[in-house]
Amino acid sequence: MNTPGQPSRVLSGMRPTGPLHLGHYHGVIKPWVELQHEHDCYYFVADWHALTTNFDVVSEYAMRDNVLDMVVDWLASGVDPELATIFIQSKVPEHAELYLLLSMISPLGWLERVPSFKDQQEKLKNKDLSTHGFLGYPVLQSADILMYRASLVPVGQDQIPHVELTRELARRFNSIFGKEEGFEDKAEKAIAKLGKRNGAKYRRLRIAYTERGDPKALKSAKEFLASMPNLSRGDRERLTGYLEGSGRQILVEPDHYVTEASKVPGTDGQKMSKSYDNAIFLRDDPNRITKLIRSMPTDPARIRRNDPGDPEKCPVWDLHKIYSNEEQKKWVCNGCTTAEIGCLDCKEPLIGHILDEQAQHIERARPYIEDKNYLTKVVADGCERAGAVAEETMKDVRHYVGTGSYR
Ligand code: TRP
Ligand code: SF4
Repeated sequence: MNTPGQPSRVLSGMRPTGPLHLGHYHGVIKPWVELQHEHDCYYFVADWHALTTNFDVVSEYAMRDNVLDMVVDWLASGVDPELATIFIQSKVPEHAELYLLLSMISPLGWLERVPSFKDQQEKLKNKDLSTHGFLGYPVLQSADILMYRASLVPVGQDQIPHVELTRELARRFNSIFGKEEGFEDKAEKAIAKLGKRNGAKYRRLRIAYTERGDPKALKSAKEFLASMPNLSRGDRERLTGYLEGSGRQILVEPDHYVTEASKVPGTDGQKMSKSYDNAIFLRDDPNRITKLIRSMPTDPARIRRNDPGDPEKCPVWDLHKIYSNEEQKKWVCNGCTTAEIGCLDCKEPLIGHILDEQAQHIERARPYIEDKNYLTKVVADGCERAGAVAEETMKDVRHYVGTGSYR
């Protein structure tokens, strides 16, 4: 859903886990890079989120290094600070304020039912996750998203329930705090201001949605409002809210945009993950990469060199699918199924591709590593830009909640 009159905003965040690996790159960062050309994108390091599960292991230095290392990898992967706003959650403390206000209206039952709450407690048995912070994690995530009135949130499959909760919290917030005295009268006056023809068109679309539930009419009505340049902010919110019968639309309900699960296998054939110790990092040592790929498991049927194999049973083939061109892929399939090539032959061009990609990545990372001031300036600029948007949202939020200025 778009905020009327504004270009669509995208927001996404990542926990600071340090240097990124190929799985992050192909699964998350590439879609981010694509989105920045068409949308107003906000990408941030979720350092407070890291504390929700790792408060006992992050030290002052480890956290800082992790945050900056991750930003270097974003920049070297093509996230462009001219196109996207890159920032750090804790440097925009408004996130904490909105989190607090949202927590007032977050029913405990909603939070306990978020699937990751129980899942993670089961999975991470060695951690103390019976904390207020961990239960409230999805509320913090909702604050991150709602702060920027984002319409699109790129996330992995596992995060969809969090974006759903965000929508529910936005709706609840709007209906609790967005009710104006005399709302209907004001909305009617705003319709009158649209003029005869436009007013009639708005009414028609509104009735099609409110009385017949036609979702296309809702979409058309929102587009129609977006196309009206002279509407005041208040009237725009009112008329949008009036469509859904919920009062003003102070916070905007976002949509999720599912990024495809990364198909990058780790060097042991399982999904690539830092915690499985099977990752190839974007700025890894070439000798280490060569060794790891040479010893990667292949189709178990190929015990001897002349046993034919089946690429579909081999994780090395998954890497070829990402890195090799059609001709090379044919060479792999033919060579493997006929045993004309051995697994080491098969891996050699792949190692070449990965090392090439890495050399370019390391080259693009160099200016930021060599000049730390340059890096911190890029981040500080992003934090400032994000802070300005956050302040604007919070002014509205405080006003409606009743904690705004007394002057
Ligand atoms: N929870 C996300 C993760 O663990 C990170 C995150 C925090 C996020 N806030 C967000 C993602 C807002 C999207 C939007 O991956
Ligand atoms: Fe895998 Fe290539 Fe060996 Fe076939 S030849 S099993 S695709 S590594």
